[in-house]
Amino acid sequence: MVRDTWATRTGFILAAVGSAVGLGNIWRFPFLTGESGGAVFVVVYLALVALIGLPVMLVEFVIGRRSERNPVGAFRRLGHPSWKFAGAIGALAGFIILSYYSVVGGWVLQYIVASFSGGYTGDTGAFFVQTASGTNAIIYHAIFMALVAGIVSLGVRDGLERAAKLMVPSVIVLLVILAVYAATLPDTGPGYEFYLSPNVDTFASDAVNILPAAAGQAFFTLSLGMGVMITYSSYLGEDRNLLNDSLIIVAIDTFIAILAGLVTFPFLASQGQDLVQDGGGAGAVFISLAAAFETMPAGHLVGGVFFIMLAVAALTSAFSILEMVVSYVVDTFDIARVPATLALAAIIFVIGLPTAMDLNYLDAYDKFANNILLIAGGLVLSLFIGWVFASDALEELGQGRGGNGGFDTYWINVVRYVVPIALLVTLALAIQEYVEFLQTTFF
Ligand code: PFF
Repeated sequence: MVRDTWATRTGFILAAVGSAVGLGNIWRFPFLTGESGGAVFVVVYLALVALIGLPVMLVEFVIGRRSERNPVGAFRRLGHPSWKFAGAIGALAGFIILSYYSVVGGWVLQYIVASFSGGYTGDTGAFFVQTASGTNAIIYHAIFMALVAGIVSLGVRDGLERAAKLMVPSVIVLLVILAVYAATLPDTGPGYEFYLSPNVDTFASDAVNILPAAAGQAFFTLSLGMGVMITYSSYLGEDRNLLNDSLIIVAIDTFIAILAGLVTFPFLASQGQDLVQDGGGAGAVFISLAAAFETMPAGHLVGGVFFIMLAVAALTSAFSILEMVVSYVVDTFDIARVPATLALAAIIFVIGLPTAMDLNYLDAYDKFANNILLIAGGLVLSLFIGWVFASDALEELGQGRGGNGGFDTYWINVVRYVVPIALLVTLALAIQEYVEFLQTTFF
């Protein structure tokens, strides 16, 4: 069978950026930064993106392009079928992540409606509470899931590439406008200070929480640990330079997250809202943006456009997750694609219901999937490349770049030693932190 390749030369980058840029950058990054001590978290996150995220993205690209298969078929094709449990970890993570990602996607849909109907006038904190859990949250969770399932069953990858092409520049332009507007507001000082000026003592006292949170966020925002990037790169030609492509994807994704923080924290400070949102910050970006749209010139229009773009960003990411889960199930159990898509979407909708009723469940799903499952997935993939498949991996990485250079040696050593040790430590901390979280939240 001749495999489909990307429709356009930039199709792969667009799809990968479409998967990476999403609620993770604009909702989750500011939320975790607020919860985990501000600038210190940002520094740790940036370090982990460069030191762990980029090398693991290349691990996934190498596996995908070498095998020309999704994670299930990849290990068989590469001659190591026993490693295919990595695909199972990824599929499980996909189920859980999409189940609440769709709930947050539903919030965005509600904010689109509210922007045009004047729904968040007045107390934007109360509006968020009303949006986040309960009947509305469930209805819009269903709508978001139906949209994702529709896109996946129609198989409209070209349409998605075009959507990503429009979405990424629009999101950047809107965030820049909002960041500039934020800078003109009074009383933003504490917001900038919290976000940009790291306090080392915070790290020393809270490393147990900051490390797993930052690592989980690095994986989540770059769509790593689940095999999405394996699947996307499996359609890639040998002439592409994987290193260049990964640098572009990581740079765009990181830039958008940093911009989102430059909008959220000055807004929160100027509105006199709490910056350190100990555990309760899931609404940070929604509450502060809605309040800002209330006062800024043409705010509701800007708000409407902003939330539409955020919905597109969320859909291109959610698509990549469902697409991955569907290929896993279709390939493993040999069932037809469209019924599989609809059935899986329905199951994922049901799994997500508790998170649409209570934010504590959303937190519980989110921490488990990101800080534990994605990290475990990344660990397994890196061990495979570093210790089982290193020489083929190096050969694959050199394709499209005229052979290996100094970076490649650095990369394989990082993948062999630094990534596994760092991820093992993070995983141990994450499990410990998760048990404590469950005890304090639910018992
Ligand atoms: N990277 C997406 C975001 O930042 O919103 C979320 C995501 C997509 C996570 C795909 C994992 C994944 F496999």
